[in-house]
Amino acid sequence: MATRKKIGLVGAGNIGGELARLIANKELGDVVLFDIPAKEKFAQGKALDLEQNGAVVGYDSTITGTSNWEHMAGADVLIVTAGIPRKPGQSRDDLVATNLPIIRDVAANVKKHCPDAFVIVISNPLDAMVYELKRVTGLPRERVVGMAGVLDSARFQLFLAREAGVSVKDIRTTVLGGHGDDMVPVLSYCTINGTPVGQLIAKDKLSAIVDRTRKGGGEIVGLMGTSAFYAPASSAIAMAESYLKDQKRLLPAAAYLEGEYGYKDLFMGVPVVIGGKGVERIVVIELSEEEKGMLAKSAKSVQAVVDVVKKA
Ligand code: APR
Repeated sequence: MATRKKIGLVGAGNIGGELARLIANKELGDVVLFDIPAKEKFAQGKALDLEQNGAVVGYDSTITGTSNWEHMAGADVLIVTAGIPRKPGQSRDDLVATNLPIIRDVAANVKKHCPDAFVIVISNPLDAMVYELKRVTGLPRERVVGMAGVLDSARFQLFLAREAGVSVKDIRTTVLGGHGDDMVPVLSYCTINGTPVGQLIAKDKLSAIVDRTRKGGGEIVGLMGTSAFYAPASSAIAMAESYLKDQKRLLPAAAYLEGEYGYKDLFMGVPVVIGGKGVERIVVIELSEEEKGMLAKSAKSVQAVVDVVKKA
């Protein structure tokens, strides 16, 4: 008998709701929207609104809200947004104190109830939270990944497209390293459908775009008073869809490194192939000395937060 896939969303807030909507629109599977007991009714209300939306736009996914982890059992994919988002003036690292106990709670429940799921973490500070989730669950590195690179690359793509006056569809970029202000937008691999970006955009403009990309999340927090949610949700869905449909897309994502790029026991943004087995491959690309230096700086920042997490 054919069955639908089950997708568990841990956190029914801004990103969680948008994730549920995208999953249903794409009919990737049925959705369970999980939140803490104080927000259970909220999660149920959101789920019901989204099911009613299906009657208008025409999808059959079931969407349910719960605060009972038993309802998450058997999930094929889990996407974790549990935690608090940034407020203006805060860095992602400022969230450790609040989000670390939340991630530990989530991880213990993932281990108990959903040990076979492919887990995508979005909660910030991303690289440290995904590290902790892998450590507590003991899941293999193929099945735990952090969403950052797709989003950061999307921001980079948008700014480049607007500057060059071309469609966002034709920009190819990748952003490596940690999901922080020293992430590494890789200009040497950046093309507009094969044309090196440097031939269409002047150097000073490119530097300004790299800088804006690095601070892209903060720019939105400054405007909205909370974190972005549309682009982050779409980014995680691209990763989930690649897993569920075995698309084997090559996407930048935070993966657990075991020597790749010269780093060990650390999650950081690198190009990965996501297919039916999860993170099937970490692709090591050649970097210039300057890019290697930037990656080292970013890795150092990630390690500093992971060290705080390890001591806590
Ligand atoms: N288990 C499940 N959900 C939890 C838990 C927990 N232990 N603790 C908190 N939550 C829920 C909150 O109740 C809230 O509904 O997580 C939800 C987060 O939703 P929002 O506050 O709307 O935040 P959102 O914008 O979705 O961002 C979530 O993703 O990008 C990151 O920095 C962002 O860390 C933040 C996360």
